Amino acid sequence: MIPNYDIPNDLIPSDPRFGCGPTLIPNETVQKLVDHGPHLLGTSHRSKAVKDLVKEIQQGLVNYFNLPSGYEVVLGNGGATFLFDAIGLGLVQKKSTHFTCGEFSNKWFKSHKLIPWIEAEEVAAEYGTGITAENRSDADMICVTLNETSTGVMVDSLPDVDEETILAVDATSGGGQVPCDLSKVDLFFFAPQKVFASEGGTFVAIMSPKAQKRALEINDSDRYIPGIMNWKTAMDNAEKNQTYNTPCISALFYLNEQIKRMNAVGYEGVIAEGNKRADFIYQWATNHPKLSCYISDQKYRSNAVATIDVDESFDVTPFIKELEQRQLVYGIGSYRKLGRNQFRIALFQAISFDDIVKLTKIIDLALK
Ligand SMILES: Cc1ncc(COP(=O)(O)O)c(C=O)c1O
Repeated sequence: MIPNYDIPNDLIPSDPRFGCGPTLIPNETVQKLVDHGPHLLGTSHRSKAVKDLVKEIQQGLVNYFNLPSGYEVVLGNGGATFLFDAIGLGLVQKKSTHFTCGEFSNKWFKSHKLIPWIEAEEVAAEYGTGITAENRSDADMICVTLNETSTGVMVDSLPDVDEETILAVDATSGGGQVPCDLSKVDLFFFAPQKVFASEGGTFVAIMSPKAQKRALEINDSDRYIPGIMNWKTAMDNAEKNQTYNTPCISALFYLNEQIKRMNAVGYEGVIAEGNKRADFIYQWATNHPKLSCYISDQKYRSNAVATIDVDESFDVTPFIKELEQRQLVYGIGSYRKLGRNQFRIALFQAISFDDIVKLTKIIDLALK
């Protein structure tokens, strides 16, 4: 497809996975799971081994995010999309306001919009631009997406909300790498298939005392909430270091290993690593005659997901296909529904900086 396109051996990345979700799970983590397998996989999720694992995850996140006392780390199945509905059904009293700038933030809005007994309002920015959320006196939940995976926009700041309002942050994409003061946030949730280098299907919801109170108030009301979305059960189980129902134990294992790795560097350190990657990749794109940064406003450019537009004279589709066929690079196409002539590259902590540099050189060779 690309004639005479040779990639020197020293440019071959140590790992081909640059996708934004799911992301790579380090090989050594998978090997460690194999070694631990007989003592963990296929044991009861109410057993000591699994409860210890959940406890380590909870404690690891408390340390990593320096969570104020009273915050609860709740785990369950279903991923982030499941939580969109569970939040609308179980944590919004009357109205949620959603600040949206891409597919995922819009999807969260739509899931609340469909619930007949609450109101949902969307404040939307055009794709490719960012949005700064504000408090709204008529909403009891403000919904913010920390990092919009579809476009590569991260939030620049979070609003102060009043005592009656829940600030909810979907941190699935950049959570753990995009700066965020969790003491300001009431519900910080994610599925761990990105910065947390695990698999999809699990959710983590970090709840402030205010969010827990809201969950109990709605639980005690006569509102119907499907059993699987019962926040009280999920919170009660979290206190016992258990997931809501039978978990995917391997995903918990991978998540815990990545939390340990991230704790070794510290949140500030991981943010700094992300910024270094971001500075490098945006500089590269800015200086290249055939590339440009899709997000023009620098303050919204993500340190976790980089979106780089490519001049129309070069069609990225056959190039990306060829790299995948050669098993050299996976997952650098633009978000499906965005459909741009674009590279979207994950800058997640588990992806090596050297590999990101190599990837840019591989692209340079093709663009010559
Ligand atoms: C910001 C954001 N929110 C939500 C989701 C949906 O997550 P899940 O597939 O776990 O439901 C994604 C998935 O990529 C995401 O990037």
